[in-house]
Amino acid sequence: MFDQLFQPMDLGGQTLPNRMVLPPLTRSRAGDNGVPTPLMAEYYRQRSGAGLVISEGTVVSPQGASYARVPGLYSEHQVQGWRPVVAAAKSQGAAVYAQLWHVGRQAHSSVQPDGGKPCAPSAIAITGWQYRSPQGRVPFEEPRELSIHGIREIVEQFAVAGRNAMAAGFDGVELHAANGYLFDQFLNSSSNRRTDQYGGSVENRLRFLNEVIDAVSSHMPANRIGVRISPSSTWMDVFDPDKRALYCALVRSISPRGLAYLHLVEPGIAGAVDSADHAEPITSSELGALFDGPVIVTGGHTPRTAAATIGSGEADLVGFGRLFISNPDLPLRVRLGAELAGLRPEGLYGGGPKGYTDYPALQTAN
Ligand code: PHB
Repeated sequence: MFDQLFQPMDLGGQTLPNRMVLPPLTRSRAGDNGVPTPLMAEYYRQRSGAGLVISEGTVVSPQGASYARVPGLYSEHQVQGWRPVVAAAKSQGAAVYAQLWHVGRQAHSSVQPDGGKPCAPSAIAITGWQYRSPQGRVPFEEPRELSIHGIREIVEQFAVAGRNAMAAGFDGVELHAANGYLFDQFLNSSSNRRTDQYGGSVENRLRFLNEVIDAVSSHMPANRIGVRISPSSTWMDVFDPDKRALYCALVRSISPRGLAYLHLVEPGIAGAVDSADHAEPITSSELGALFDGPVIVTGGHTPRTAAATIGSGEADLVGFGRLFISNPDLPLRVRLGAELAGLRPEGLYGGGPKGYTDYPALQTAN
């Protein structure tokens, strides 16, 4: 069934066995100091039938993290911890990319290594949403404005994390420029009021992303670097008077660089959940048409809508987040036309195997 999903394709010189993507999913099972664990290897091994596996958000520094048990790629221990996880994810022929993440102002002083304020392009707190602390939801804090030196340090942290990703066996990296995290905070004018070369004009607001692409490119070819954006989302207070112009300019700016892919979060998704408030969606087909390279779309797809999206040429690959959590062997099930299991609420974030590695594969179902 859905033959379009099972056409192999080239991505950065690698042949993907199918068009189904395990998209980045925060599951919060890393060990101490952000070191991946054997349980994570089991989780990724179970989902290794995807054509492309993108890791859960993986932070480039302790300052870049907002929640506990998120993995990193800034220490040698983390690189060692990732190796068996990446090997497990590759066991059925998928390409495996690390999603590199810095949360910027979505962090909280209670989890900053020095207890200091989180950093951001400008000292503007997130309003309208709350930080999920272990003690419950609390208001976000006003972040500290990054200096030029501070920005350069973070650019370098991305480069080091890219180099570490290669050392851990990843095939490439995805830059997390979606969902109101640090890149998105630079892009949108509601969170970026800078008056230097990183703020003001759209070109200036794109500078941080382009500098990180340049820096990461010194450790891998451009065709192993993907970029993920969520053009329609205002989740975590990222607004701009003209999001369409902003994200069209972004795609036009990165398109000539020969990147691995552009990964678009579909309208109607706010972070990890569905949202009804994208009144004026910027469609993936509109942005994808501006990008000269493979396009991934993720958010609310079923195998049927995914096959139609690929069949019409609107995208090359489709991510299935929630379906891949509850169906570790999703591509096999779709190919056989087997029934798909639903998501259980427990264990989505943190904990042990429950809700993580205990969703059965087809052979052992019933
Ligand atoms: C989440 O933990 O809910 C989460 C993490 C990263 C995202 C979106 C949501 O990009």
